[in-house]
Amino acid sequence: MSNTPTIELNDGARIPQLGFGVYQIPPDDTAAAVKSALEIGYRHIDTAEMYQNEKGVGQGIRDAGIDRAEVFVTSKLNNGFHKPDDARRAFDDTLRALEFDYVDLFLIHWPLPTLYDGDYVSTWKTLEEFKKDGRARSIGVSNFQVAHLQRLADETGTVPAVNQIEVHPYFANDEVRTYGREHGIATEAWSPIAQGQVLDDPVVTRIAETLGKTPAQVVLRWHIQRGDIVFPKSVTLQRIKDNFALFDFELGDKDFAAISGLDKGESGRIGPNPDTFDFIPS
Ligand SMILES: NC(=O)c1ccc[n+]([C@@H]2O[C@H](COP(=O)([O-])OP(=O)(O)OC[C@H]3O[C@@H](n4cnc5c(N)ncnc54)[C@H](OP(=O)(O)O)[C@@H]3O)[C@@H](O)[C@H]2O)c1
Repeated sequence: MSNTPTIELNDGARIPQLGFGVYQIPPDDTAAAVKSALEIGYRHIDTAEMYQNEKGVGQGIRDAGIDRAEVFVTSKLNNGFHKPDDARRAFDDTLRALEFDYVDLFLIHWPLPTLYDGDYVSTWKTLEEFKKDGRARSIGVSNFQVAHLQRLADETGTVPAVNQIEVHPYFANDEVRTYGREHGIATEAWSPIAQGQVLDDPVVTRIAETLGKTPAQVVLRWHIQRGDIVFPKSVTLQRIKDNFALFDFELGDKDFAAISGLDKGESGRIGPNPDTFDFIPS
């Protein structure tokens, strides 16, 4: 069984701090990747409607023979479905694809402030329905900036349990993280190793060599010590194993500070800016 620490969310649910991300895993390969991750000990899977592999996630969990209740499963609303009726249908489809009667966490994937007349508030209120009827144990958002979070606080009655945002050593995203910390919103760090781009950094490779760890382990450990939730993606068995072995070592203050010093601010982003991102999959 897994020895991954859990973090308590603002609704009392607990989420494993380390999980397995499945973005860009082809639908046909997803069940096998998820099964491998579960066999290694992961108990938290992060998928999304946009990844088109929810079916494989559900299948992988069943193939691993693990009780549904032991795995924390997150999915996310696709960008084309922000209107309440569309969101309701999309959420039904998510549960159908997973073949589960609930998800542990359901997120608005992107705020899309330039679309839908800038209305992500009615979308959020629709997610509140899913929480109320128990089909989403927790609800949250992804890629929300401080202004978007503040608007939800001003206009609705619930605080998102998490905000899943881009965070890695080149883009520490501390303003949004700090807002979350001050308002009881847990931060989930997506692309935690910047899709591999930070792994050749001389600061990271030097620390990895000194500690006898891989560059990915060092960067993922930095996230863990910052208190964020991470779910690195890999389809490579040895990497899936290595990325799970983060709890038998610690970064000292100097190494931790050296990695924090790699932050490039806004220019360190590798993904789209949530203030302008308006992609709707066809
Ligand atoms: N909410 C959002 O908008 C959003 C956006 C992006 C991602 N996410 C979530 O965050 C998860 C993780 O982010 P991500 O997939 O973008 O990137 P990531 O986890 O930072 O990096 C994945 C890449 O790094 C490689 N890799 C993984 N472990 C490695 C290791 N130990 N050594 C060397 N290379 C390694 C993988 O290659 P191989 O697979 O070939 O091994 C893959 O190319 C996603 O899967 C998804 O669940 C959410």
